Amino acid sequence: MTTQDLLHIGRDRLVPVYRQREMVLEHGQGSRVWDNEGREYVDFGAGIAVCGLGHAHPALVDALTAQASKLWHTSNVFYSEPPLRLAEELVAASRFASRVFFCNSGAEANEAAIKLVRRHAAAQGRPPERRVIITFHGSFHGRTLATVTATAQPKYQEGYEPLPQGFRYVDFNDLAPLDAAMAAGDVCAVMLEPVQGESGVIPAADGYLRGVRELCDRHGALLVLDEIQAGMGRTGTLFAHWQDEVKPDVVTLAKALGGGFPIGAMLVGERAAETMQYGSHGTTFGGNPLAAAVARVALRELSSPAIEANVARQSQAIRDGVAKINGKFGLFSQVRGRGLMLGAVLKPEHAGKAGTILDHAAANGLLLLQAGPDVLRFVPALNIGDGDVAEGLVRLERALEVYLAA
Ligand SMILES: Cc1ncc(COP(=O)(O)O)c(C=O)c1O
Repeated sequence: MTTQDLLHIGRDRLVPVYRQREMVLEHGQGSRVWDNEGREYVDFGAGIAVCGLGHAHPALVDALTAQASKLWHTSNVFYSEPPLRLAEELVAASRFASRVFFCNSGAEANEAAIKLVRRHAAAQGRPPERRVIITFHGSFHGRTLATVTATAQPKYQEGYEPLPQGFRYVDFNDLAPLDAAMAAGDVCAVMLEPVQGESGVIPAADGYLRGVRELCDRHGALLVLDEIQAGMGRTGTLFAHWQDEVKPDVVTLAKALGGGFPIGAMLVGERAAETMQYGSHGTTFGGNPLAAAVARVALRELSSPAIEANVARQSQAIRDGVAKINGKFGLFSQVRGRGLMLGAVLKPEHAGKAGTILDHAAANGLLLLQAGPDVLRFVPALNIGDGDVAEGLVRLERALEVYLAA
């Protein structure tokens, strides 16, 4: 089929909830991807922070193919070895968790967390109106009805009302409104991203998560950290919250956990580990042996000191490269983020133009993402090499030149 035929199918047959670029990607290797017409791209997006080890990583391919010829699926009525080993390895790596629930996506991991904290409050004898969950303006937690309600951004919620009850929103990076919102004693949990991703790559300020933890302890609430985007080494440590020196009660993971194979996980610390019992939650595919076999390898690789060192190195290279480009073009007001989760914020005169710049980037051989209309988002594979970063920056500069000339 020609590219045009495929694009027509996309336009006519898919529910049009996305705005894909006019290309059809075919294969990838490391941090390079090729489309079906043979054009090659440097990948600074990694499938939205998913392909932490790049494309076609040999150890992931080996794990997948070895498991594929053994056992694909058992359901959770039976045990199989890969999810058991993965659970043990996640618990050991996490420094806080004692139990894990597996699912298939980020939204499902957060949905599980929302249900768990409600159930925990119910077990304490709290009536439904005293099981409020606090989330933060600008957050993103997923697209199911409960997680889109947790996502405190009206644009994701409009038209889906009535929304589930029991969510309360406060400003991010400010402890006073959070304290006030918890004063009534009706909050069962606070849920947040250590680095807000979708709304513009905004890291928690120094000491902020510690302050949130203290407020949770004072007001009898659980602390849930959504590390779906920021976790698995992306911000420079395996778990983003290690840098904030807090101990959460629940952490959710997905995206890079499977290196591109769908899997999500909810990790639960001691305080709430016994909350969910037989029959209280479930999913057919969660902890599927194929996904778990791949995730075990992803976890092993992404936990390595080599990855941690590379994230620091390439983070600095991208910051330096964008600063140099900015010296020439003066497009960005700042670059913010942690590790390889970086956002270049467009100056007010270029506000709303991130999508247009991404089109120019793709036309110049660079796959780049946005985080809202005003921020270019850099979330490459964590094993990206010096050459790919340098080439990606050259292509970014070319794309910005074309954008400014248009
Ligand atoms: C922080 C965060 N939480 C949750 C989600 C939802 O994950 P999924 O799209 O796998 O449902 C995302 C996805 O972008 C995310 O960035």
